[in-house]
Amino acid sequence: MTASQDWRGPQAPPGPDRNCGQTLRLDVITIFPGYLRALDLSLVGKAAGAGLLDLQVHDLRRWTRDRHRSVDDTPLGGGAGMVMKPDVWGEALDEVLRLPADAQRARRELRDRPERQVLVIPTPAGEVFTQRTAEDLGGADQIVFACGRYEGIDARVARHYREAGVEVRELSIGDYVLNGGEVAALVIIEAVARLRPGVLGNPESVVEESHAATGLLEHEVHTRPVRWRGLDVAREWPALLSGDHGLIARERRDRALARTARLRPDLVRRLDPSGLDPADRAALARLGWASPPGAGAPVKLIVRPALTGDVPALAELAARTFPDACPPFLSSESVSRHVEDRLNPQILLQWVEDPRVAVTVAQLGEETTTCSGQVRPDELVGYSVVVAHEEDDSGGLPAGLDPLPPAVATLLEDGPAPGGDGGANVEDGAGGAAELSKLYVDARVRESGLAAALLSNCVRQAARMGAQVLWLGTHEGNRPARKAYRRAGFTKVGSRTYDVGGRRCRDVVMALDPRAHDQAGPQR
Ligand code: 6GU
Repeated sequence: MTASQDWRGPQAPPGPDRNCGQTLRLDVITIFPGYLRALDLSLVGKAAGAGLLDLQVHDLRRWTRDRHRSVDDTPLGGGAGMVMKPDVWGEALDEVLRLPADAQRARRELRDRPERQVLVIPTPAGEVFTQRTAEDLGGADQIVFACGRYEGIDARVARHYREAGVEVRELSIGDYVLNGGEVAALVIIEAVARLRPGVLGNPESVVEESHAATGLLEHEVHTRPVRWRGLDVAREWPALLSGDHGLIARERRDRALARTARLRPDLVRRLDPSGLDPADRAALARLGWASPPGAGAPVKLIVRPALTGDVPALAELAARTFPDACPPFLSSESVSRHVEDRLNPQILLQWVEDPRVAVTVAQLGEETTTCSGQVRPDELVGYSVVVAHEEDDSGGLPAGLDPLPPAVATLLEDGPAPGGDGGANVEDGAGGAAELSKLYVDARVRESGLAAALLSNCVRQAARMGAQVLWLGTHEGNRPARKAYRRAGFTKVGSRTYDVGGRRCRDVVMALDPRAHDQAGPQR
């Protein structure tokens, strides 16, 4: 037999002197040992040098016995290509795994072994290797890679070692075909090695990066110069230069969510809703994913302009949601009267058909179970109405438009609206006013992010209408609503009285400049 052709030269078998729990023993068996030379470079090579990894590459032909040192043969049953011979692989693996050829005896021996040995067979027909697999393999003491070429390794090899009690993992690195397992072994080794203690300089980078526990793709990254080839981080990502760590973290999280929603909807569907805070839910809803409490995962959210055919369902939704937002002192008669007078199908139809009114409805993309019941995809679960203070040709204002509160009229006269940053994109005094007349969400999808998504949409609609002020009235006792509007950039500008079915209620009036606050959404 020829001497070992290992590119690292002859090596000692793993012994107590090297494998002391800190060291991960990696054996790669291949007919192309040179392929694995890449592992000498970079952090993996350094880790091997420091004794954190013990990397051994073996030439499979060392275990051939024939003159031609053949490792393959034609497939039984015929067909294209060659199959790697089980006998050669058996001898190689018995030696590297330190096992007898007899499965029964091997099983008994393995039972007494304290260390965890894993046999990895890279194959495009295996289970997909993911970060979870890497984390799992990171806990092994020895991983042996059996790199096949041609059409693969005789299937009895995997079966024999499995039956002998070895942990066998047939792993694919993705849905494409390579010529052999060597590149896959490189990929798996790098992914596993960097999770071992001491291999990476900064262990935190393992936590932050894509596919880590967050289940999200990593946000984009930038460095100096701040402005490069006309691309200005200061303009596009002002938060990053704010020095406000909370704001920066929020911006990054929003970017990670946006990137994941755009490129990997499959990952969004697997997010754990309990790991999402209200700002996450809002960001996801703006990206088209609702996270209702109790639903196992985010679900597709459809936010669209209302059509004439939506009016019956919309009237029902309006009647169902209005009472939830009423102060407790209002009688159910007053509430019903208001719904009949002000939220009836005739008015809703006029709004839907009036170009000065933007009526938006929301639906879930699929049947969803929430904490408070089932939601079908054909149901409307939220709506908003933005009405422009704009006369038609005969001088009439849109139906159901509330009188312009004096505080809002003053704003219009005085120029810049509240909350405006005076930025270059705001032309003072150019536009009129729009009322955010309705914004209601079905109780079953509260806290799903939908209200925030509808609100952003309303601001965008008002900006498109050319409004300089978007204003709203909300009952002074409804603190959660006021807080949500404040978070979206609205400020209190005054108050008004509002008639609900014959009862006078006090509302606060809030406003913002939609042109300054138009959130293009995180997909900028
Ligand atoms: Cl692990 N092996 C081969 N030959 N092709 C692949 C693969 C593995 N993973 C994806 N394609």
